[in-house]
Amino acid sequence: MKIGVVGAGNVGATTAQRIAERELGREVVLLDVAEGLPQGKGLDMAESAPVEGFDTLITGTNDPDALTGCDLVVITAGIARKPGMSRDDLQATNADIVGTVSGHIKRVAPNAIVIVVTNPLDAMAYVAFKTTGFPPHRVVGMAGILDSARYRYFIAQALDVSVEDVTAFVMGSHGDEMVPLPRYSSVAGIPLTELLDAPTIAQIVQRTRDGGAEIVGHLKTGSAYYAPSSAVAEMVAAIVRDKKRILPCAAWLTGQYGIRDLFVGVPIKLGAIGIESIIEIGLTPEESAALHRSAEAVRTSIQKLEL
Ligand code: NAI
Ligand code: 2OP
Repeated sequence: MKIGVVGAGNVGATTAQRIAERELGREVVLLDVAEGLPQGKGLDMAESAPVEGFDTLITGTNDPDALTGCDLVVITAGIARKPGMSRDDLQATNADIVGTVSGHIKRVAPNAIVIVVTNPLDAMAYVAFKTTGFPPHRVVGMAGILDSARYRYFIAQALDVSVEDVTAFVMGSHGDEMVPLPRYSSVAGIPLTELLDAPTIAQIVQRTRDGGAEIVGHLKTGSAYYAPSSAVAEMVAAIVRDKKRILPCAAWLTGQYGIRDLFVGVPIKLGAIGIESIIEIGLTPEESAALHRSAEAVRTSIQKLEL
């Protein structure tokens, strides 16, 4: 597998490193417009290979043609949030960047699967989908795994148990309207609702929704990248190893959950072809209403795009 990572900033570089260290591909191409940045980071990572013990080749470049023949491309190019900014404040700038990058991918890697990371995530997945013209199973957005990882971590902390035993997931858009689902969360199979009281669960849900902003508040100059790159690497592994993982990701909906013509976070089966299927779980009227509010927020944001 040849894997492209576009954007050699915090998320892109950390993602390339995780892919290489886990040998998820034979070759990783790290592409950025900033001169020297992908070359420097790429070479630095490559020089860690003898110590880390991986044989994945890493190339850093400013030349989009280096993506030629990629099987998988991760788009992290764009600006990130600073304190006081919402993910939607990034939209106009990042739509141009993701549009340009998607044009390159369409030209030189027409068979690639594309994982979109750039924010606002659900709208940028739409830009990549429309610009590449790829079939919907080959364009997928990363957010739900990150939001769910935060949710799982907070649950594990509250119960003082291993994160390994916590299963939970978050649906909906990657924004303030995301939908963490306590009813589908469990610890070693025990429903979360039997282990924590409602006010504690509500606090965890709110902290999950604010998870990105909490990190921005600490960092001040940018946003999270360790957990985001872990989430991307999990998606890459599911695809390159054809794992058929059930993961919450942003997928193009064509009527599932009563939502159409939007990217929204839902459980999908992810394998070698990309999205193998979208899984529809039963939702209560309240959960369904929250998912629809989340989808409407995405629709409002994509209506501002000129594509
Ligand atoms: P960063 O600022 O560290 O890196 C972005 C990189 O993109 C820069 O190096 C920049 O030179 C590059 N870039 C800009 N235009 C480009 C182009 N046309 N082609 C190639 N490279 C280009 O930002 P960071 O922290 O890596 O975040 C990247 C994006 O990912 C942001 O939009 C951020 O909001 C988003 N993000 C999304 C997450 C999610 O859950 N979906 C999680 C974390 C970040
Ligand atoms: C996050 O949730 C920035 O969207 C990114 O950390």
